[in-house]
Amino acid sequence: MTEILQENGLLHLRNGSISYIMAVMPGGALAHLYFGPRLSAIHPDGVLRAAGSGDTGNFRLQECGLDRLPQEYPVQGLGDQREGALTAEYPGKGWAADLRFSGAEALDAKPGLDGLPATFGSDGKTLRITLADALTGLRAELLYTVFDDSPAVIRSVRIVNGGDAPMLLTDAQSLCLDLPDSRWDLITLSGAWARERAVYRRPLVPGHQGVSTLCGASSLQQSPFLALARKETTEDAGEALGAALIYSGNFAARASVYQNDSTRLSLGVNPRDFIWRLAPGEAFQTPEAVLVYSEEGLGGMSRAFHRLWESHLLPPRWVNAHRPVLLNSWEAAYFDFDEEKLVSIAECAAKAGVELFVMDDGWFGRRDDDSTSLGDWGADRKKLPGGLRRLGDRIRALGLQFGIWMEPEMVSPQSDLYRAHPDWAIHVPGREPITARHQLTLDMSRPDVQEFVFRAVSDTLTESGAAYLKWDMNRNFSNVGSAYLPPDRQRELPHRYILGLYAVMDRLVRAFPEVLIEGCASGGGRFDPGMLYYVPQFWCSDDTDALQRCRIQWGTSLFLPPSAMGSHVSAVPNHQTGRTAPLESRFAVALGGCFGYELDPRKLTEEEQIALRRQIAYARDTEKTRARGGLYRLLSPYEGNDTAWITVSPDQTEAVFTLVRALGRVNTPPPLVRLRGLDGEKRYRVLETNEVYGGDELMRSGLLCPLRPGDAQSVLYTLKAEEE
Ligand code: DGJ
Repeated sequence: MTEILQENGLLHLRNGSISYIMAVMPGGALAHLYFGPRLSAIHPDGVLRAAGSGDTGNFRLQECGLDRLPQEYPVQGLGDQREGALTAEYPGKGWAADLRFSGAEALDAKPGLDGLPATFGSDGKTLRITLADALTGLRAELLYTVFDDSPAVIRSVRIVNGGDAPMLLTDAQSLCLDLPDSRWDLITLSGAWARERAVYRRPLVPGHQGVSTLCGASSLQQSPFLALARKETTEDAGEALGAALIYSGNFAARASVYQNDSTRLSLGVNPRDFIWRLAPGEAFQTPEAVLVYSEEGLGGMSRAFHRLWESHLLPPRWVNAHRPVLLNSWEAAYFDFDEEKLVSIAECAAKAGVELFVMDDGWFGRRDDDSTSLGDWGADRKKLPGGLRRLGDRIRALGLQFGIWMEPEMVSPQSDLYRAHPDWAIHVPGREPITARHQLTLDMSRPDVQEFVFRAVSDTLTESGAAYLKWDMNRNFSNVGSAYLPPDRQRELPHRYILGLYAVMDRLVRAFPEVLIEGCASGGGRFDPGMLYYVPQFWCSDDTDALQRCRIQWGTSLFLPPSAMGSHVSAVPNHQTGRTAPLESRFAVALGGCFGYELDPRKLTEEEQIALRRQIAYARDTEKTRARGGLYRLLSPYEGNDTAWITVSPDQTEAVFTLVRALGRVNTPPPLVRLRGLDGEKRYRVLETNEVYGGDELMRSGLLCPLRPGDAQSVLYTLKAEEE
């Protein structure tokens, strides 16, 4: 059970596993004392002296005393020389608010956040702390939530202009965490199209380090996440601290090492390209940020994130629901299809046991390539003479669900929509439009654009009867400007865009609660916790090559759950890498996420089609364990030739184990892989070999994994606990 203890100026949130402790200092500064395993109590003097002050009195009255105080929501410019979490300009009153404690209250229920995705849950406790600046009237309302079942603290801030003059907010981070030392490695996830979320780990050094984006999305290149791990921290053991932002736009995630080797973490909306006007009485709500603490290494941190999202963020309708095994038409047909071809692909897919057929890009306007028609969301009657309804009905008549692709936030210059509403595209008037993939981005800050997008999607869903929508987004911002926002609010556009997107998504999921929505952004270009509030799965990457996917899925799983990672078996040679991996390996890797196909089943041999039937039956049988189980990463593709992971059901009676070897090795014994997460007291039968081993043996000695000769070979084992 979570509790909030408030005594002697200390504010202590704790549940069964963690404590988060703050102190109200004489003079009103809010100090950070501790985040880590649950404590019964703390002596503030120790922490504060270690921070560099011989005196634990009023830091504010000491010369630059705030520079040595670990703080919750610091502001630079009033003694603290480090970079703070908040900057706002006040006419004639500078840009540093002197934030002092003005009250704290425990809330009965966790509030939602205005216009933003946020964690929810009836368990746990929330504390609201108000800091206020007497000179300007600025207030910062800090929210802290701890749920009963999670080693996490969820934070957000509401900045209120309580003064009588307008303010310009230029930086409002969601969280700041001052840590007493810098003996950490920083882990971030970075990449590019078709190689998203690669893991980078390096020691912290004095100065700033981190990741950020300015492209209008969380992006292919970076993720709104960072972790700190001790040098000795491994997948299974040691301290790890993860931070993630529930947000899909421009963000900044930073770890800064200052004098005395203290570390300041910050996470929030990127302050570059951000200026927000706050009239008297107005408020700005930051996105939510989540801090997770683990003593069970990076694996423990990831599992804590996965469980937190699944219990407190993902749409509850879909968390435990069966996700249909889908076949997507993109790599099967690209733009080259008509109704008959789609139906014939779907027929073949249905025979193999596929449950959902998805028609990807190319069905609307005159879209024979990517140069036209985004925004003109009427079916192309040359390709689909009977329209969406007839195609949907024919697919459903095969016993399949029907799904459809859209890219609702975009417009092609070659479209009726653009000709009618050139001002709806993001642009700076007077400058040449800058296209990417021949398209422009609609200005989602505009209410008329939001209405258009909502109507376009809801009409398409209604007409087609689709049970699934793939919501794609294939370009980032350039020439950033809005014909709708006034000149002094142009820097609000990036954040207002995301608020507009969230408003439309929110309306859609309410209007179509039974439609399964999969997010996509040139693959995983906006795969973040913000989107997961609306869509329970996201296309992880356009790279479907089994070996590349080992790296991408490994990195993604650091903070996002396998149940949300769209992951498909595709044809060989692989369309991205040209590599030919065996069908079993492509299957084993795709099972590591939300499973489906991305190929033309008609082109498979009879033997392969039979294999597909077996695969789909297996995927369905093991879905609960793979989606709801705990993920243990075993062998890292970043460290060697083999990748291995195991997913263990919550009751430890079933597990799915996968090993993938990139390059075949001649004349080497088979690997013995130590498993994790099993019950050491139980005995497990490996269904594929019919051998029985003790859980302790599998975890301490290992499981032998004979591999066939050749590259990209794999082993997929199902472990079932024997009845006692
Ligand atoms: C990018 C996506 O990632 C692909 O899966 C596909 O839907 C294309 N867009 C279609 O244009």
